[in-house]
Amino acid sequence: MITSLVLRRPDDWHLHLRDGAMLRAVLPWTARCFGRAIVMPNLRVPVSGSAEAMAYRDRIRAALPPSCSFQPLMACYLTDHTDPDALAAGHDAGVFIAAKLYPAHATTNSDHGVTDLALIRPVLARMERIAMPLLVHGEVTDPTVDIFDREAVFIDRVLAPLLADFPGLRVVFEHVTTGEAVAFVRAHAGTGRVAATVTAHHLLINRSSIFEGGIRPHLYCLPIAKRERHRLALVEAATSGEAAFFLGTDSAPHPITAKETACGCAGLFTAATAIELYAEAFDAAGRLDRLEAFASLNGPRFYGLEPNVERITLRRGPTLVPEAVTAEDGAVVRPFRAGSTLNWQFGDD
Ligand code: NCD
Ligand code: ZN
Repeated sequence: MITSLVLRRPDDWHLHLRDGAMLRAVLPWTARCFGRAIVMPNLRVPVSGSAEAMAYRDRIRAALPPSCSFQPLMACYLTDHTDPDALAAGHDAGVFIAAKLYPAHATTNSDHGVTDLALIRPVLARMERIAMPLLVHGEVTDPTVDIFDREAVFIDRVLAPLLADFPGLRVVFEHVTTGEAVAFVRAHAGTGRVAATVTAHHLLINRSSIFEGGIRPHLYCLPIAKRERHRLALVEAATSGEAAFFLGTDSAPHPITAKETACGCAGLFTAATAIELYAEAFDAAGRLDRLEAFASLNGPRFYGLEPNVERITLRRGPTLVPEAVTAEDGAVVRPFRAGSTLNWQFGDD
């Protein structure tokens, strides 16, 4: 039985940090473990230009614990009005590592997202030319499509035609939740231009978990967790060692008051124990030997970056998930698996 594991320091390729007091409350949890993270741009006012992104990056750096080397990597929020020249300039200047496509109204703070892909064709053509990755929230917004089918339908209606139209475009299918998404990524993986992030929670819960003994608002996120067979497909993909699958927590904190209410927000806060949660999932699959590829190597390779040099240690032993993370303005966030004990301990050595 493996009792400890040394990994290159991992990175989180899909993370929500928010802003202000919430940013200051949640950031240390990510920064203690991860070397870098792509910070999602869906603030209340979207991060859609270089100036806003630089200012946000400054606020993130200012919120870091002293002498912490964590690096925030910024993504541009695409809107119907994104200017290809400005986007390319932001990429060239090293402000934007990627751009994020939120279909309008697909998820939290996506109201300014893209209403019709036809409107951003010049943007996509430019991204294809400069090899700037497109990060995709892969769900259709058609209200007549069942919520559990929105990702699979997105593949057929949007993603497959998009890749055919832009054969050089580099795409990350974010937070995949279905066997269909896994198969689609695999079918394109040979080109090296399509990859996917997988969250810890989608490796650990299925859609029945959301209703276990009652309705559990803290397990509601988008894309919503699917059937068990989809969870198994995700575990198989994440633990396969294949280069196209890498770590992205999609940790998305919301105050408890916005979760425990008649119409609760989507998003799970997993950052408090992210690497420990992934270790649980890989351990359950008997594949701890492949955690490093998924968490620390495949992501940097896709983004053309070096893996982190430092190492972290995971030891078999109890980690108590905090009951709550409280921001200085009094907002309380309930972590995924709050109050329970996980089987892996993170060590920064
Ligand atoms: C995210 C959020 O709260 O910002 N919510 C979620 O359920 N994952 C948005 C997103 O990534 O869809
Ligand atoms: Zn997200």
